[in-house]
Amino acid sequence: MSKEGYDLVVVANRLPVDFSVSDDGQITWTRSPGGLVTALGPVMQGADGAWVGWSGAVDVEHAPFDADGVWLVPVSLSEAEVEFYYEGFANDTLWPLYHDVIETPTYHRLWWDAYRKVNRRFAEAAAAQAAPGAIVWVHDYQLQLVPALLRELRPDVRIGFFNHIPFPPLEIFAQLPWRSQVVHGLLGADLIGFQRESDAANFVRSVRRFTDLTTRGEVITVTEDNGLRRHVRAAAFPISIDSRHFDRLARSPAVAARALAIRAEIGNPDVMLLGVDRLDYTKGIRHRIKAFGELLQDGRLTVPTVTLVQVASPSRETVGAYMQLREDVELLVGRINGEYGHLGNAPICYLHHSYPPEEMAALYVAADVMLVTALRDGMNLVAKEYVAARSDERGVLVLSEFTGAADELAGAVFINPHDIDGMKDKIVSAVEMDVREQRKRMRRLRRRVIEDDVEKWSQSFLAVLSAVPEHEVPT
Ligand code: G6P
Repeated sequence: MSKEGYDLVVVANRLPVDFSVSDDGQITWTRSPGGLVTALGPVMQGADGAWVGWSGAVDVEHAPFDADGVWLVPVSLSEAEVEFYYEGFANDTLWPLYHDVIETPTYHRLWWDAYRKVNRRFAEAAAAQAAPGAIVWVHDYQLQLVPALLRELRPDVRIGFFNHIPFPPLEIFAQLPWRSQVVHGLLGADLIGFQRESDAANFVRSVRRFTDLTTRGEVITVTEDNGLRRHVRAAAFPISIDSRHFDRLARSPAVAARALAIRAEIGNPDVMLLGVDRLDYTKGIRHRIKAFGELLQDGRLTVPTVTLVQVASPSRETVGAYMQLREDVELLVGRINGEYGHLGNAPICYLHHSYPPEEMAALYVAADVMLVTALRDGMNLVAKEYVAARSDERGVLVLSEFTGAADELAGAVFINPHDIDGMKDKIVSAVEMDVREQRKRMRRLRRRVIEDDVEKWSQSFLAVLSAVPEHEVPT
């Protein structure tokens, strides 16, 4: 660590590694796969960077340590904090509220208290790591109070915030009993990034409703207690993936061989449909499987000609709505397989696992049609990974209008997942699409995904943040 601290500090709920501590205090860690790590890893290593985050374990206190040139600063959470701050306020209040109340959000004052307390802990940890005038980049809905708390502690640093999930319309956000505290928490930042223009616009509308501040376009003017005036910008910075890396991976002979093996393992169907999601109620997995089941029932798709491979990676398994979702999905899959399957031929191959990037790339290369049917999604990086993996310019992306990715990925076949009949027709048109049309669409998709990669995303955000001028003193 340089004596005065780090020039770039990332603050996120999770550290970019999974680590465990042995009885004698030795740490073993492995990089946890994920977009943010890939995006920021190179920037961090080159920039004297520190990363403040939770290890994912309960009550693990550990001193900061170096991992591949990045200084990792673990923030500890007690059992009650995991329950109230993480499972409760983050994932049972904010998550459903910000995703158009697909599930009903729960409002508990005890959870809010824990959220405030934990956000303060993250802010203090970040304040302790930042060099004078450093850039601190705070991530996602779990930490919306950190910008203002950090500004109190360290008025010298430039603070960016990026919201990875949607920001809801005013009429929905208004439900939150602590809406103005959240807005003021975010306004501690100099730059607030969102996935879509409409998320940024929703936020600015909430600022106008729940504060007395002046806004002009995407700029909000904040006057501090000490009379200093700051301009906060709220703008869209759609996130992406490490497209070239994924493209290379998918072209490797090992992945190509594995893709063929996958097709063989599922009985060499004429058409393989693929769904890849965290097992989350925002992803529209129930709607997708229902539509697929009806297509089998109608005889528009048949077994064993068509197989749906559904990867549903385990997620937030202690939160009630996620337990219920798993029950529902597994019941539906069981019914459809029981009804339409034969010995050795199940129409749905359901996998409740997570897989490494090599296996994901092989699944994408193997799939003729990729189904992304989210009811609401900040971006959806699976859609971009599928495109990056298809250097053969084959395959069809069926994409929900309710994803951030839909704003960027013209060339997809768009669906409204609530409209089951419409979705069925679009799935059939994707299955039947001729090769020329597939190629035309995939070329268009690839131009966008390969060009706008995650490095461009982080650089453009950091460039705007670095250009934030010194605070103005009122005249
Ligand atoms: C979404 C959120 C991330 C979160 C991830 C996994 O992508 O935007 O902030 O880390 O889901 O969820 P988890 O609760 O396991 O961290």
